[in-house]
Amino acid sequence: MTAVCFARKGHTVIGIDPHVRRLEQIRNAQLPFFEPGLGDYLQEAATKGTLSTTEDTSENARADLAFISVGTPSKRDGRIDLRYVKEAASAIGRSLIRSDRHQLVIIRSTVTPDTARRVVIPAIERELGKEQGVSFDVCSNPEFLREGSAIHDTEFPDRIVIGSERQLSAKKLEEFYHEFHAPNLPPVLLTTHENAALIKYASNAFLATKISFINCMGNIAERIPTGDVSIIAKGVGLDRRIGPDFLRAGLGWGGSCFPKDVDALLELGRRLGYRAEMLEATANTNRKQWRKAVKFAKRALGSLHRKRIAVLGLAFKPETDDMRAAVSIPVIEALLAEGAIVTVYDPAAMKNARAIFRNRIQYATDPMECVASADCCIVTTDWEDFKNIRPGTFIEKMRRPIVIDGRRIYDATEFLRSGVMFLAIGLAS
Ligand code: UDX
Repeated sequence: MTAVCFARKGHTVIGIDPHVRRLEQIRNAQLPFFEPGLGDYLQEAATKGTLSTTEDTSENARADLAFISVGTPSKRDGRIDLRYVKEAASAIGRSLIRSDRHQLVIIRSTVTPDTARRVVIPAIERELGKEQGVSFDVCSNPEFLREGSAIHDTEFPDRIVIGSERQLSAKKLEEFYHEFHAPNLPPVLLTTHENAALIKYASNAFLATKISFINCMGNIAERIPTGDVSIIAKGVGLDRRIGPDFLRAGLGWGGSCFPKDVDALLELGRRLGYRAEMLEATANTNRKQWRKAVKFAKRALGSLHRKRIAVLGLAFKPETDDMRAAVSIPVIEALLAEGAIVTVYDPAAMKNARAIFRNRIQYATDPMECVASADCCIVTTDWEDFKNIRPGTFIEKMRRPIVIDGRRIYDATEFLRSGVMFLAIGLAS
């Protein structure tokens, strides 16, 4: 993402990755994953000839700036696995041995606060045999991209955070972004490596907490007459101190960042002798939230054995094919365990779903086919495509028109009046 956006702006970018197949795809201007708009950007970069790819890490020596954007997956205990960060740093160190250029190394990956000083700088110094400041400097510069709107978030970030030990290198990176974002430079915060890394975790943990909070309010609203979390979120969000974003109640948050980052922060707290109880509540609320889909289905149908359930949405959020930590996965597994016959549809994630569920579920080619003859339909992802399905369509197509709105995409009043049996997160039944 970062590489393509920089290349499109005219910078000469070398993408270095050990996955030869992925490099080949990019070389052929094909995307290895679904991201709106990125295909066109890649094509533009290819036309300009500004983006090249290689698995040869020695090519790094040609760069003035080296961005480390590798994955930092979770280990079993919640700690992040810094293996790829360390490998990248070591490769950078080796590549610079015969170079006379000074390189700015930028940590873009989400990492724990001690990573720059404890892992990256020592790994480069060890391989290179020179100390930071001589022929390289390291900056921590976390990215805050959302999947599905990653291009927009790269081009128009709310802020740029730069952590560094050396003012000069931080300024150099700030100048780079100045040029990239001109004439609209977002606020830039210069700080230490540790603060920069923690800002990323804190931002994600706060957003996840906001969602768990509204889901908690939804669980209360469901239990009071006329309660409706959508209205509550609207009222709460109009308070400028709170704001309306990330207050959409639903089956919970997933994806490649929130679950991993909240776990990593909890683990970091433990390591530092602090129990982050607030984040425990954030994670626990989310861990239980998806179960409501199955509970609602059972409330409506009794036993789910041999019942046909349509699941609309597989990706962890709209505009992506990513199913990492998607709530659709535990929901479908639980439905199967109850003996239900599950048919699924997602505008982008069908291939990924096939790799997970194989022939244990049925795959529809569109939403209508998915809900046809179903006893119940569960909306698990808030794709635009699903929002315009009217109650009459559910009544016409389904065996029993039972709709569980797991993402609050439908107008409750319209659906409740329509003859559909409508159950929704945070809505009094
Ligand atoms: C997130 C951060 O937003 C981004 O800044 C960071 O760089 C990476 O992690 P992403 O995981 O791509 O981005 O998606 P995001 O839009 O934040 O949604 C995460 C999850 O929260 C999704 O499962 C989404 O469905 C859920 N969500 C989001 C809600 O349930 N309610 C909301 O109001 C918003």
